[in-house]
Amino acid sequence: MHIAVFGATGGTGRNFTAQALDAGHTLTALVRHPARLRHPDGRPFAGGGQDRLRGIEGNVLDPAAVAETVAGADAVFVTLGMTRGNPPDVVSSGTAVVVDAMKGAGVRRLVVVSSLGVADSRDQVPWWFKLLMTTALRPRFVDKADQEQTVRESGLDWTILRPGGLTNGPATGRTDVGTQAHVMARTISRADVAAVALRVMGTAGTVRRVMAVT
Ligand SMILES: NC(=O)c1ccc[n+]([C@@H]2O[C@H](COP(=O)([O-])OP(=O)(O)OC[C@H]3O[C@@H](n4cnc5c(N)ncnc54)[C@H](OP(=O)(O)O)[C@@H]3O)[C@@H](O)[C@H]2O)c1
Repeated sequence: MHIAVFGATGGTGRNFTAQALDAGHTLTALVRHPARLRHPDGRPFAGGGQDRLRGIEGNVLDPAAVAETVAGADAVFVTLGMTRGNPPDVVSSGTAVVVDAMKGAGVRRLVVVSSLGVADSRDQVPWWFKLLMTTALRPRFVDKADQEQTVRESGLDWTILRPGGLTNGPATGRTDVGTQAHVMARTISRADVAAVALRVMGTAGTVRRVMAVT
């Protein structure tokens, strides 16, 4: 597959990029800081995978850069987060730009990382996290709810993944992935989320599904 990645310099994005290259895919990643496009352990992508990874320097809020990134892709992976130097709605606004670019380019498959706690998964997180979601984390969860709505209304072949608390641990393969509303948030490594994302990307049965990943 040829995969366009948004968020490739983040924790989950680095793991996804490394795993997708290892699996033989080709990737185009839109990154604000090309020097950060590295393996999860900080090693540069050199040698084997290098020729199958193209980094485009730019911002996800720039429609022209996003259009260049999705051109020719078979699938798109969005793992955007609220990092420095961004407006408070960067995740939803950036995802809207990606969705528009995909429609323009005729690219249909979209896998997006959201979070447990968003929208109708409010009761799948512990009480103390609910408290955070209505206080310190409120702007982020409003942004993520808007992101999910944009994806659901896109008409594309989307899958929304809602992980529990992310860690930087190794991939374990011991993941609980499901659409059931009773799946409660537990921690999961970014490496495991990346592996699930890569797997569901090629699984037609996950289209238009919202899945908890713990
Ligand atoms: N932390 C948790 O426990 C937790 C739990 C559940 C879900 N999640 C969600 O899971 C997702 C992945 O989390 P993570 O910690 O792996 O991500 P992260 O490390 O925060 O990475 C976010 C990525 O988004 C990119 N990005 C942000 N603004 C951008 C822009 N304007 N243009 C282009 N790229 C931009 C960042 O690039 P730069 O390097 O340029 O900033 C980075 O590559 C996030 O949506 C997060 O909210 C997190």
